[in-house]
Amino acid sequence: MKAYRVHEYGESAQFVEDEVARPAVQPGHVLIETKATSLNPVDHKILTADLGINPELPAILHMDVAGVVVEVGAGVDDFQVGDEVYGCAGGLKGQAGNLNGALADFMLADANLIAKKPTTLGFAESAALPLVCITAWEGLFDRAKISQEDTLLVHAGVGGVGHIAIQLAKTRGLRVATTVSTQDKADIAKDLGADDVIFYRDENVPDYVQRLTGGKGFDVIFDTVGGDTLDKSLEAAAARGRVISIVGQSTHDLTNMHVKGLSLHLEFMLLPMITGERRADHGHILSVVARLADSGKLKPLLHEKRFRYAEANAAHALFASNQHTGKIVLENL
Ligand SMILES: NC(=O)c1ccc[n+]([C@@H]2O[C@H](COP(=O)([O-])OP(=O)(O)OC[C@H]3O[C@@H](n4cnc5c(N)ncnc54)[C@H](OP(=O)(O)O)[C@@H]3O)[C@@H](O)[C@H]2O)c1
Repeated sequence: MKAYRVHEYGESAQFVEDEVARPAVQPGHVLIETKATSLNPVDHKILTADLGINPELPAILHMDVAGVVVEVGAGVDDFQVGDEVYGCAGGLKGQAGNLNGALADFMLADANLIAKKPTTLGFAESAALPLVCITAWEGLFDRAKISQEDTLLVHAGVGGVGHIAIQLAKTRGLRVATTVSTQDKADIAKDLGADDVIFYRDENVPDYVQRLTGGKGFDVIFDTVGGDTLDKSLEAAAARGRVISIVGQSTHDLTNMHVKGLSLHLEFMLLPMITGERRADHGHILSVVARLADSGKLKPLLHEKRFRYAEANAAHALFASNQHTGKIVLENL
């Protein structure tokens, strides 16, 4: 099969088209003929740096996949040959070794990590969903345990995770505010369901807390940016508020947490792939997400230009240039 592998990591790393052996199906796994993958920031970080979870070289990267099941391993009852599936199922090194990624003609995937894809979405749209949906789901529902009475602030409402967080929160009836940089992105965020928009470059925290919450602060803040923004999240939270961060490798003053009795949740969605534990949670989340998509309650935001697998280097160059709006998708054409 064809695989678009990297032979070194670092700023100048490139994907190279290689001919490699098709993986053999394993018990508990399915073999997926890949149709599409999407580019998540972690794929680019692995390409360009050592995250401690980089697969052994030469490596097949990219975590998200959508495709068709072509072989079913022993002990797998939920899938059969011909099923159209999606998942976040490889592209890193876990505790048990390499999990090969989606940038190849076939991908071996733990059946617990995948689900049948939404029937109303194509492979490209479906491949944009898994990693960001699982992250937003676990952050909002499993950790912060949001409820309809909560006010929610989502940082980066047009980002990969942010645009899904807005939509998932709206399925539970919350009032949602979100931060964006431009009017175009504000319009997209509103279209996704955001009730209030904050231009984060122009309005400071006390002003938008006053404008949108009467000075009380937000009950829940989903911070998909980190760094200085995490300090702003602690500042913008209401007393007893809950802050979820997905970017937490940083040092912060916890005074605002202390004086307001906040709780802080650090979400790390890669854990089931890394440790092998609780993988079925991800397949379950993706099954529910597929139903939400098919009922029109959740849609992916895709960057207008699509790439082919053979154009993986161009796709990553676009990501690094930060000129994209919506998720970057690559199709195996
Ligand atoms: N821990 C986990 O499990 C987990 C899971 C998924 C992702 N992540 C990490 O979370 C981060 C976001 O991922 P993603 O997929 O959402 O990334 P993304 O699609 O690249 O989105 C980044 C967004 O951040 C916005 N942004 C940049 N600076 C901002 C600021 N100061 N305030 C508000 N918005 C700002 C950008 O919008 P503008 O152009 O409007 O600035 C852009 O829309 C990445 O670092 C990723 O690696 C972690």
